[in-house]
Amino acid sequence: MSARFVPYLGAFAATALLTLAGCGGGKPTGATCPTGSTLTYTNFGQNFMGTYCLRCHNEALTGSARQDAPADKNFNTLDGIIKEEKDIDEQAGASDTVTNTEMPPDGEKPSVDDRKKLAEWLACGAPQ
Ligand code: HEC
Repeated sequence: MSARFVPYLGAFAATALLTLAGCGGGKPTGATCPTGSTLTYTNFGQNFMGTYCLRCHNEALTGSARQDAPADKNFNTLDGIIKEEKDIDEQAGASDTVTNTEMPPDGEKPSVDDRKKLAEWLACGAPQ
């Protein structure tokens, strides 16, 4: 391989690392709130977060138990979710055009259908 390709390889490696870290990889889903949406915290959001997010993003966890989840991103309350609505959409939401899979980084993953429900619920203002 000719030496002038080497800098390009470096750029590819950097991009791959950023993608692996999950930082800034997501896109807004552009989801909208359909008339008659029935999703609520009680019938959807709480269970979604409990299944896929709270083993890291939980106020009750400290230190290494958080598995590096940022201290200010906690989804064990509806307020904590609403505060990060936009970021959550970009990390875990889906629509007909965008599917974000940065979160959760490991373990059991939500289906695309559940990711779409998440984005819809957030687009509706995350009703209780
Ligand atoms: C195994 C632990 C773990 C789980 C489970 C997890 N996260 Fe994370 N999350 C992290 C870590 C570590 C970071 C910080 C590094 C990063 O952004 O990749 C993070 C960062 C974030 C951020 C901030 C991203 C940014 O760019 O500022 C959001 C929003 C987020 N997670 C949402 C979620 C959602 C929603 C779920 C559930 C669907 C979830 N996470 C599940 C570990 C986790």
